[in-house]
Amino acid sequence: AGPCDLYASGGTPCVAAHSTTRALFSAFTGSLYQVKRGSDGATTNIAPLSAGGVANAAAQDSFCASTTCLITTIFDQTGRGNHLTQAPPGGFNGPEANGFDNLAAADGAPVTLNGQKAYGVFISPGTGYRNDATNGIATRRLSSRATLPRACTRSSTARILTGGCCFDYGNAETSAHDTGNGHMEAIYFGNSRTWGTGSGNGPWIMADLENGLFSGVTTGLNSADQTITSRFVTAVVKGEPGTWAIRGGNAASGSLSTFYSGARPNVAGYNPMHKEGAIILGIGGDNSVGAQGTFYEGVMTSGYPSDATENSVQSNVVAAKYATTSLTSGPAISVGSAVSFRATTACCTTRFIAHTGTAVNTQVVTSSSTSALKLSASWTVVAGLANSACVSFESRDTAGSFIRHFNFALLVNANDGTQQFKEDATFCPKAGLNGQGNSIRAWGYPTRSFRHFNNNLFVASNGGVNTFDAAASYNDDVSWVVGAAFA
Ligand code: AHR
Ligand code: AHR
Repeated sequence: AGPCDLYASGGTPCVAAHSTTRALFSAFTGSLYQVKRGSDGATTNIAPLSAGGVANAAAQDSFCASTTCLITTIFDQTGRGNHLTQAPPGGFNGPEANGFDNLAAADGAPVTLNGQKAYGVFISPGTGYRNDATNGIATRRLSSRATLPRACTRSSTARILTGGCCFDYGNAETSAHDTGNGHMEAIYFGNSRTWGTGSGNGPWIMADLENGLFSGVTTGLNSADQTITSRFVTAVVKGEPGTWAIRGGNAASGSLSTFYSGARPNVAGYNPMHKEGAIILGIGGDNSVGAQGTFYEGVMTSGYPSDATENSVQSNVVAAKYATTSLTSGPAISVGSAVSFRATTACCTTRFIAHTGTAVNTQVVTSSSTSALKLSASWTVVAGLANSACVSFESRDTAGSFIRHFNFALLVNANDGTQQFKEDATFCPKAGLNGQGNSIRAWGYPTRSFRHFNNNLFVASNGGVNTFDAAASYNDDVSWVVGAAFA
């Protein structure tokens, strides 16, 4: 059985079921998600390899070969049509044209399920999905009574490394604006300390109920809500009139804990609830776009699932055997080596990545260049400051300073030890998009890679609102021959 078969047996059927990694019903053979490629704008749908099975990642890999792909739609597997697509502007604008949010890279979150490759949804700040016109999702207004459907939400997610608002999945406003306390009921997972916290340093599972992330009955600290540090997390938020609960645990082993179960928050506006029934992923109810996280699968149910039903779903998730896999591809860029990066665009094949003060650029470097220029174009490869599965590049002439992105421009800055710096300085090389060398992806922004544009360096996406995101000559501009350092 799949998770939604288990919820149905428990009398609380799924009314939305989203996953890019696997079917959530044992009989499901339809499309899990749609990807769009950069080369020609064509789309394709990715289905499970077999009924109830893992997504056909190989079909995505072949469709997206030698170009970039974005996840355009995460289909609802329940048949209710509650698909998730690019989130529109709301109380806040997203970064794309007309205030829409970014779409996620199709290959931004590779994992394996029982050894089979699949891709999750890496949400960078700015990325978000939404459906404001749903079918069968709980709504509840002041005039309604308890007989209306209730919702629970559940998702398993990767560890979050930043605390911006709000890495959410669940029920939100249909207007994408903050319409007041109690107008949301979504799972939040992350490190935010703006509203609620639990014990330890986070991340925590909390309930985003609008104008507040709740870890229990009060605002602020509810210490029964424990920090979860496992790489994969199962999170449950469920609510019904007068009562709600937070449950969660390690999605790769063990059982769920109950972190809260009891009365509605003791702050005006949250009891009774005013759920509106839109569905969000990766953003706040008002389209706040400051969060980062990874989503693999999530469902919303009708009714208040029993703990026993959720426990059987947790066993199902554990049996799916989520595991990490390599984040890199292409020629090896070995930790401990010293390297140079040569541009491969026809204009510029004698130019190498160098820096002038803090600015990273390309310069023509030859064996007869000054030793200062040679050093400025030479980099020591170290283990990724934020993730040792990737790498960071330390300046050969300025020890302790690394290539990092800031507002998507590359800079050489001293490591200030912050999590933000470490993430901005971590890159995951993959095979060069034009077939030469490597493309050097930003760990926290998998749609973006090292790109030279007017001889200055950025982390650029293949098309987008910034001039340096131009699609023309993208594949060449992001492909670098990584050779021995000059000095
Ligand atoms: O409740 C926390 C956040 O507050 C909501 O997600 C957002 O709509 C508002 O900014
Ligand atoms: O480069 C994008 C972001 O800009 C970085 O992550 C952050 O440091 C800055 O706000």
